[in-house]
Amino acid sequence: MRKKIVAGNWKMNTTLTKGLELVDELLQTSTNDSILKIIAPPFIHLASVADKLNGKEGFELAAQNCHQSANGAFTGEVSAEMIVSVGAKYVIIGHSERRIYFGETNATLYQKVVTALANNLVPIFCVGESADDRSANVHLETVKQQLKEGLFNLQLDDFSKVIIAYEPVWAIGTGATATTHQAQGMHNFIRSEINKKYGKDISENTSILYGGSVNAENAKELFACLDVDGGLIGGASLKAAEFASIINSF
Ligand code: 13P
Repeated sequence: MRKKIVAGNWKMNTTLTKGLELVDELLQTSTNDSILKIIAPPFIHLASVADKLNGKEGFELAAQNCHQSANGAFTGEVSAEMIVSVGAKYVIIGHSERRIYFGETNATLYQKVVTALANNLVPIFCVGESADDRSANVHLETVKQQLKEGLFNLQLDDFSKVIIAYEPVWAIGTGATATTHQAQGMHNFIRSEINKKYGKDISENTSILYGGSVNAENAKELFACLDVDGGLIGGASLKAAEFASIINSF
């Protein structure tokens, strides 16, 4: 049985004080114990948020990125080992903002996935097409290529640990959520590509999250789609009541 997950990606938002208040409120309001809740604060907040979450059933911590090298002279970067050492078990890799603003390619992202897994850090690997891709009807091809180059060189054992997030770039922060038809269509396509590469068991057990303008109003219908196993939430994860309501809509 694949895991049901709601993850909050805070991106470059919150101060430490505000972030910790957000976690406190969330711990009081999210009552759904049947799913895994993941919080992805900025690197600099990870250790403090880890302290707050310590021992809280059903909550885990993620970083928003990691470097592909184990360690070394990479000023300003953060390694997978460092992330694990402060208590995070997950890392978002390949977010479209990393791809677009920081030039991260599928080849680099594959290296990051390998390094994360080597440190027992579970990758939440993001894929998703641009608005131009969708209007040119090449969205399936784009996502297929991201999966192929970013993940499909992994051995089966390693791949089986990975979580995938489908985040159409045109839906991120725009209010233009994918329809259930669009989300289910892409999730089903991703699962079928995994099936072709790694077989039915693995494809049925891979959690595929949807991200892109998920809010308290649309979460329920998105999460009800057969191949949508949860969400990766941006803006709405910064409001405790709304994020709790998304969590509770499973
Ligand atoms: P929004 O929920 O703000 O659209 O962001 C989604 C996202 O990028 C999560 O990683």
